[in-house]
Amino acid sequence: MGVSHWLLASVLFLPLSVTAQGCSVSDSNPSVPENNNPGHVVANISVEPGFTVTIDPSSPDGNYFVIQGSELQLSESVDYETDPVLLVILTCDNNAGESYSLTIIVTILNLNDNSPVFPETNLTRVIPEDTKVNATIVAREDVTASDADLDIIYYKLNSTVQNTNDYFAIKGVNNPEIYLQKALNYDKFNFATLLLYAMDNIEGTDGIIHTATATINIIIEQADTRPPWFLPCTFIDTERSICISSTYTGRVNMSEMSTEPLTLEPGPIYAIDPDYMLNEKIVYSIVGGNSDNVFSVDADTGNLTMNKVATSANSYLLQVMATQVNNKQKYSIANVEIQVINKSEHAPRFESGIYAGTVSVGLDPKSFVFQAGGSSSPLMIAALDDDFPDKINPNIEYYIRNNTNFTATKDGLILTNVILHSLETAIMEAVAKDTVSLQEGSTVVTVEITAAKAVTSASDKIYTAQDMGILGGILAALLLIALVFLGVMIYKQYGNTVKFLINKKFSKDFPGSYNNQAYRQDEHPDLSANKQESTVTKTQQPSLFLTPSSEQEIHGLPQTSPAFTIISDQKVEEEEEEEKVEEDTKHEKEVKSILKTDRNEGDPGYKAVWFKTDVDPSGENVEVINDSAADYDDDSDQDLRENEKEEEDYKDDHH
Ligand SMILES: *[C@@H]1O[C@H](CO)[C@@H](O)[C@H](O)[C@H]1NC(C)=O
Ligand SMILES: *[C@@H]1O[C@H](CO)[C@@H](O)[C@H](O)[C@H]1NC(C)=O
Ligand SMILES: *[C@@H]1O[C@H](CO)[C@@H](O)[C@H](O)[C@H]1NC(C)=O
Ligand SMILES: *[C@@H]1O[C@H](CO)[C@@H](O)[C@H](O)[C@H]1NC(C)=O
Ligand SMILES: *[C@@H]1O[C@H](CO)[C@@H](O)[C@H](O)[C@H]1NC(C)=O
Repeated sequence: MGVSHWLLASVLFLPLSVTAQGCSVSDSNPSVPENNNPGHVVANISVEPGFTVTIDPSSPDGNYFVIQGSELQLSESVDYETDPVLLVILTCDNNAGESYSLTIIVTILNLNDNSPVFPETNLTRVIPEDTKVNATIVAREDVTASDADLDIIYYKLNSTVQNTNDYFAIKGVNNPEIYLQKALNYDKFNFATLLLYAMDNIEGTDGIIHTATATINIIIEQADTRPPWFLPCTFIDTERSICISSTYTGRVNMSEMSTEPLTLEPGPIYAIDPDYMLNEKIVYSIVGGNSDNVFSVDADTGNLTMNKVATSANSYLLQVMATQVNNKQKYSIANVEIQVINKSEHAPRFESGIYAGTVSVGLDPKSFVFQAGGSSSPLMIAALDDDFPDKINPNIEYYIRNNTNFTATKDGLILTNVILHSLETAIMEAVAKDTVSLQEGSTVVTVEITAAKAVTSASDKIYTAQDMGILGGILAALLLIALVFLGVMIYKQYGNTVKFLINKKFSKDFPGSYNNQAYRQDEHPDLSANKQESTVTKTQQPSLFLTPSSEQEIHGLPQTSPAFTIISDQKVEEEEEEEKVEEDTKHEKEVKSILKTDRNEGDPGYKAVWFKTDVDPSGENVEVINDSAADYDDDSDQDLRENEKEEEDYKDDHH
């Protein structure tokens, strides 16, 4: 456009052109903001009489201008970024042919009307996981935005992927170079999307801000950062970047060559490359502990085999190394302990194919299971080993294989493992394991879980049937003595009167009554044993709580039967004797309540039931208690079973 040429000319002509002959302008060097509206007045023109003013067609920017009356106007909007200066020449003519030129230079003022522009709005960078901190990830020139208004540009960086913000940063607010601020970890994230903002004004100021955005995708590639891991292994750091394996263990027979690869615990020798995207090949070798070169390891599979027999009973502690083929400095070492044992020809075996035990519900965990059949001995299982002359293998330990409600001690005692609630017969497999040869033999154990009555007989030995019999006897004897004494006293005082009245009364009555029977027994102190039983029986008979099952038990008692016989005898006695019997009965009731209190300690039942229970421990009245205890069985039992835990497998976890 030759702007600079005309600029130069305008400067030279400036003094001349401010006022030409015949015409003048208010301002020959006006300034106009860009993006003006059409018709914007640039200057006012004064024309002397006889003169006319026109825009010189040769003006470089004459097409931008029009003359409207006395005003010089811009005919269109002007963009500073296109035309920072406009030059227009006005010509003044008169009829006489005089012509003068007037040069006007219009300066366009720049406004902030443009956004910054990035060279690329979408970039992708692939970086290795082990990129060093402070390393440049995106060069400055790739992310430097330009601005047509030539504004100073301010930058800001954000990450769209959560928790990746502090890994990447720009060097400064005016320097958009992106660098790594924090060490990467492929397992934490392997992709990030950054948003870089370019702004042509400082954030927070009043002025207009134009913002441009560039998206930067960062793809992280796993690097060969970690040495192999032997599996299974346990993480020792919260970042889960270091995993340590425990010792592998195995056994060989003394003086015997194994042709197969040795079986090891907890599994075969196996290492992985934790940089799993790379999954570098790993080779195995024995680097220590292989005295006499007894063992060798397969480089590719890790299988451990024997070259020759082991002749000493000492264990071998081998060091097996796993190395990455691509970088031998990436290695790990695992310990392998090989025990040399005496050859075991026979597995442990149980002499008895089945063991039967019994235990009652509600006992604390670790309570003994007793031998079935009312024995007071704990149930104990024992296995024999034919490899030993006496068949006793000191290395045998016992455990229960398929029932977590029970446990076996190393010595073979069977214990409960939980508080049992269900009345059932538990069938389980008990195993005897030779901890040296690892051979096993098994047997079946059945445990009958009985009602809590067994609790009393098993754990509370204070009140046995015998004890209660003795107590009852003593009390009855005391009662008898008191009654006889009382009877004698009454008889001495009122004997004749009473005798007369009674004879009169009972001559009309049925022959034989309950009270009279009792009195008759009282008359014979020599029969103390029978009397004890009869008092007991009498107190029970009036009881409304007497149940058929308890009657059966009483019949089962040899001592009780004669008492019944005596009761069925019918005799008429004197009135005074009847009175005594009434007192007698009161005493008996007191005795009864004492007994009841004692028994209540064990059970909430009433005396009659309890007493029968005592009399016959194997009785059916177990079921009376069952009914009350059975209600909450199943729920709690299930809850207990749900408490089982499982171990975490790091192999699974990893993959
Ligand atoms: C990264 O650069 C900062 C600033 O120059 C410096 O303080 C820091 O030590 C550097 N970090 C590393 C790991 O080089
Ligand atoms: C050792 O001997 C036992 C019994 O013969 C056999 O079962 C076992 O496989 C042997 N162990 C090895 C490592 O050969
Ligand atoms: C021998 O190596 C193979 C292949 O790795 C493996 O599957 C097998 O379990 C190994 N055997 C033993 C006894 O370690
Ligand atoms: C192995 O057998 C030998 C000879 O029979 C015996 O002396 C030794 O105590 C046994 N070792 C073990 C650990 O049982
Ligand atoms: C345990 O194993 C024995 C014998 O194999 C079986 O009879 C019994 O039902 C099993 N018990 C449970 C609780 O699985």
